[in-house]
Amino acid sequence: MHHTGAEKPSRTHHSPAFLRGSHQPGPPGRARARGHRRHRAVTWRGAASVDRDVPAAVGSVLADVLRDRTASACALDGVFGRDVAERIARFTLDGGKRMRSQFLWWALRACRGGQNHDQIHRALRIAAALELIQTGALVHDDLMDASCLRRGRPTLHADITNQYAAAHRPGASEPLGAAAALLGGDLALAWADDTIAHLELPPETGRRVRDIWTAMRTEMAAGQYLDLHAQATGSMSLSEAIRIAYLKSGLYSVERPLALGAALAGADEAATRALRAAGRSAGIAFQLRDDLHGAFGDPGQTGKPSGDDIREGKLTPLVAVARARAVATGDEASLAVLEGCVGARDLTPADLAVVRRVLVITGARSAVETKIARLVTQSMHHLTSANVESSARRRLHALVCAAAGAPAPTGSSTSRPTEEAGPPPPSSGGTADVDRW
Ligand code: IPE
Ligand code: MG
Ligand code: MG
Repeated sequence: MHHTGAEKPSRTHHSPAFLRGSHQPGPPGRARARGHRRHRAVTWRGAASVDRDVPAAVGSVLADVLRDRTASACALDGVFGRDVAERIARFTLDGGKRMRSQFLWWALRACRGGQNHDQIHRALRIAAALELIQTGALVHDDLMDASCLRRGRPTLHADITNQYAAAHRPGASEPLGAAAALLGGDLALAWADDTIAHLELPPETGRRVRDIWTAMRTEMAAGQYLDLHAQATGSMSLSEAIRIAYLKSGLYSVERPLALGAALAGADEAATRALRAAGRSAGIAFQLRDDLHGAFGDPGQTGKPSGDDIREGKLTPLVAVARARAVATGDEASLAVLEGCVGARDLTPADLAVVRRVLVITGARSAVETKIARLVTQSMHHLTSANVESSARRRLHALVCAAAGAPAPTGSSTSRPTEEAGPPPPSSGGTADVDRW
């Protein structure tokens, strides 16, 4: 149900039920099937209770934070509160797998942290801030990528555009939708930064956490800019495609959350380095899987459109490999399809089917699958080499597989890797682990 643009909420607009602790029904089908959570008031008694359900623990902290933030926004102005602040809160509370939170939490536990109430409280607050970063990033990303669907629902800019479609000045609703997404994304990022800024941390932990946070915020902006820069310039460089995947997604999705957990636990340098290296491989695998979903996925399953990356002309490793292979084999027909279709906004479903076929026959799709599997193996290898607590390590193994869309690990995966897997690759930063295809 959309409000009409003309309908003005009163200045004393109150937060809706979903922020007052009772459950707001999610969308039918997909989102509810994923087990939508109730944001009940829960006291987290010890790390073991968080271990049992990390998403629920973080969800309850998020509900607390967002209740305060939306109440202030609604008190400030009912229209802004209703249109922007509440949408940001609802998006954050009613969706997402809390993957970043889980990486942070299990890195903390792997480094034998979470032993006292303060550390648990800090970990959950930082995890909540990571989820808010994710909201801000996605709202901005959907605007920049002109995506209309996210988590099975209209994206924020599309939703506001619809809401005001019939309002007053013709053509005014689209720029309003774009402005709402810019400001709503900013709001989520500001709320995330405030959450970190207000956290009391011991001096050395505080220094480590804030350094990671600052680096992460800049990396993501750089990655997103380079993603659009490559799209605009028509770059086809595979190494650039990998670098973009790492900067725009791998770092803030996996490597940095793991580093934050390690920092909170006061982990030593060797454990931190091993976790970061594991996160680097897993983070890139995660984005490669996202690229495969973007090209071949079913929107009913992914909640996102299929084919948008191709229409927008994104430089993904998938497309870069397809092109490199078509050049190497002199496959002129495939090259012509890629040149004619990648970046063509008016592609029909039939055109998209032709591009997908090229991604398959050039071997690009299976090369990306192979790459994901290799990255998962590398990630496991780094986790196995780390001197960390073994049950948390198993949780990290499972999370890496889930992030990469790879089969869940078997019991033996925590043992030392076989000779065939080879020695662990260098882990001193950069994307050296993944430059070999
Ligand atoms: C998203 O990249 C990266 C950030 C939100 C920072 P994509 O544009 O590739 O991701 P999806 O497919 O829209 O989720
Ligand atoms: Mg994008
Ligand atoms: Mg996108």
